[in-house]
Amino acid sequence: MTAPGNKQIIVILVRRTANPIRCVVSVPGLLIALFLCSGLLQAQKVNIWTMSREELAAYFAKLRAVAQVDRQKMLDLLGIRIQDSLPPPTTDPNRLPNLTQLKGSTNWYDAAGNTYVRSEWGTWTNYDEAKAGGYTLPDPLILNNGRTVRDAETWWKQRRPEILEHFEKEVYGRIPKATPKVTFEVTETDTSALEGRAVKKTVVGHIDNSRYPAATPSIEITLYVPAKATGPVPLMVIVGGFFGPFPGQPRPQGPSAMDQVLALGWAFATVDTGAIQMDSGAGLDKGIIGLVNRGRSRKPDQWGVLAAWSWGLSRALDYFETDKSIDSKRIGIEGHSRWGKTALLAGALDRRWAIVYSSCSGSMGASLEKRNWGETIDNVAGVDEYHWMAGNFLKFGGHWAEMPVDAHELIALVAPRPIFVTGGTQDQWSDPHGEFLACVGADPVYRLLGKKGLGTTEMPAPDVALTEGDLAFREHEGGHTDLLDWPVFLKFAQRYFGK
Ligand code: GCU
Repeated sequence: MTAPGNKQIIVILVRRTANPIRCVVSVPGLLIALFLCSGLLQAQKVNIWTMSREELAAYFAKLRAVAQVDRQKMLDLLGIRIQDSLPPPTTDPNRLPNLTQLKGSTNWYDAAGNTYVRSEWGTWTNYDEAKAGGYTLPDPLILNNGRTVRDAETWWKQRRPEILEHFEKEVYGRIPKATPKVTFEVTETDTSALEGRAVKKTVVGHIDNSRYPAATPSIEITLYVPAKATGPVPLMVIVGGFFGPFPGQPRPQGPSAMDQVLALGWAFATVDTGAIQMDSGAGLDKGIIGLVNRGRSRKPDQWGVLAAWSWGLSRALDYFETDKSIDSKRIGIEGHSRWGKTALLAGALDRRWAIVYSSCSGSMGASLEKRNWGETIDNVAGVDEYHWMAGNFLKFGGHWAEMPVDAHELIALVAPRPIFVTGGTQDQWSDPHGEFLACVGADPVYRLLGKKGLGTTEMPAPDVALTEGDLAFREHEGGHTDLLDWPVFLKFAQRYFGK
């Protein structure tokens, strides 16, 4: 069975109201979401096609209510009390004037279309550089004991493990030491897929759920290998299983990501994160997290959904290493948005990922958390997204400075492997400038490890790619998408994977 990726998609729909470019919940929007999630919903035996809009809304409100209870339990466990004495947003003196509220939503917008929300900690979204700074970033090359890291050995033996420990304990949660066995099965092979251009394999990783049969996660892979391949080829793995555009959205000119990858003679695979773990706090008693915990609530340092997805991706990588058509030393990972966060985290946690492309990942991805711009820790700690993270992460709601690590150190964990970080000019919610600054912060680690970093501390103009070094960045002119950067990424990746 496939775990509930449906919620994932609908959660996106709901969440997307928190993003200017991404959507307004409308009838076409709803249809698009339904189209995208239908298979996943069916897998969960919830038939959305027979539901009315009202029933659907009620269904997702129920999920949210369940998540609310789980989150509250964690807050109680941590002794966190969130103030409930805020004035209504409409009369809140801290709200910028001239914002308009989207009807039926808690989102506000400025004339440029940027989204503003007020967090439970009373903070409003900021898009003013004058109010974004004033933070101090931890130095990735200073050990916890205050000494400076001067050589690669100290990085590998001491500093990297220290940073990793902070991320695991406090931020994304620990992946359990003993996870269930996964057995892979190729369930279908189509030797003439894509008009004969590719061999398509459908692969399922069966996760042993004998310790808790109520949870039924799996690893769902779709792999396309160029039909002309004569030996093992490089592979790009796309996290999330969907690579747009949504039906009805303007189609960018040119070939899709899959076409571009296949045209290079490389293989292309998608991994469905929804099958590994539901994208909702309502699913933490199921999926791989529920399975390992036997349905019980998480402890504060246990893994959140992003770490669970990263674990599942590593299992997919185990499979790819056994597939003779794939060159196991040249396997890259790409993800966009919440999957951009995942691709980055997966790349940090598993050094077998040879290259990482993290698109528009924003908060708790590649953008600096201590910087006040667009989405912040306070938003991710809210009921719609807290499940991505460890319970301990809730401690940093309203206390950003106390988070012991920041995004530049997550990027640094990928070093010395090549990484490409992107943002979009019209995707300020994801804070492209904060992503660039995180790359700047990771740069010294790349250089320490003998690699060429960014080469500048100055934000490049839109569409100007910084791809000379092994740490690459580009802010495209446009919105929340990975499609515009694929050609640039593939050119960058060819330096490592060959043609
Ligand atoms: C929301 C969320 C982001 C996330 C995005 C997505 O906008 O706030 O953090 O990246 O959804 O995954 O689409």
